[in-house]
Amino acid sequence: MSDLVLSLRAVEKTYLTGDVEFQALRGVDLDVRAGEMLALMGPSGSGKTTLMQIIGLLDRPTEGTYLLGGRDVTDLTENERAEARNREIGFVFQAFHLLPRLDLLENVEVPLTYAGIPAYERRERALEMLDRVGLASKARNLPSQISGGQKQRVAVARALAGRPRLLLADEPTGNLDTRTSEEIMALFTELNGEGTTVVIVTHEPDIAEYTRRVVRVRDGLVESDTTHTPRAGVRT
Ligand SMILES: Nc1ncnc2c1ncn2[C@@H]1O[C@H](COP(=O)(O)OP(=O)(O)O)[C@@H](O)[C@H]1O
Ligand SMILES: [Mg+2]
Repeated sequence: MSDLVLSLRAVEKTYLTGDVEFQALRGVDLDVRAGEMLALMGPSGSGKTTLMQIIGLLDRPTEGTYLLGGRDVTDLTENERAEARNREIGFVFQAFHLLPRLDLLENVEVPLTYAGIPAYERRERALEMLDRVGLASKARNLPSQISGGQKQRVAVARALAGRPRLLLADEPTGNLDTRTSEEIMALFTELNGEGTTVVIVTHEPDIAEYTRRVVRVRDGLVESDTTHTPRAGVRT
């Protein structure tokens, strides 16, 4: 029995624009074990988002294989991918992506609605998650009524409401000031301490200091994969 949450082998991704091909990933191998928290770093255009989209089952590799929780998900149909994504993966994005007309509670409920969870249970779980990120008292506020850091907390609550085994965050602190970024990283660290596997894309070295493992991507390849002692007071 393997405790690998995800395993990529020789993953390539070629985009076709008109009749011009561009190889964004050129043979990526990556294993992530249950309970890890890692930063995926690399310069702009190196393939980080492409890799996250493949890991998050939003896109599929052109070549190579992908095992998620030991299951080969390389060749799933669109519907099977959506289903696995709902069940296994939570996403946090740089731009929060909250729905402006829904209050915070309703925003957190959205993925649970897609997952077919009954209304009373949705409400209960969404409130529990808002409470978990310290925003239960604002459940009935609209996104426009809270700060950027609070919006990102709501996005984290929404990502976790479906109890995914894997939390993916693409530049989650890209729109936040330093102090708020630190708060969000502390939240990820806590959630990781509670057992969630966390993969964070960032180009900010300060953010990568929070994770024990740092994987660097360059020109569509893993350039280095190192572990170090995370920033003092932070446990991953
Ligand atoms: N949908 C797409 N079609 C064509 N090229 C793309 C597409 N998405 C990304 N690319 C190209 O692939 C490379 C890697 O992009 P990306 O994964 O977004 O990098 P990063 O997140 O590290 O900045 C870039 O050169 C980008 O222009
Ligand atoms: Mg990117």
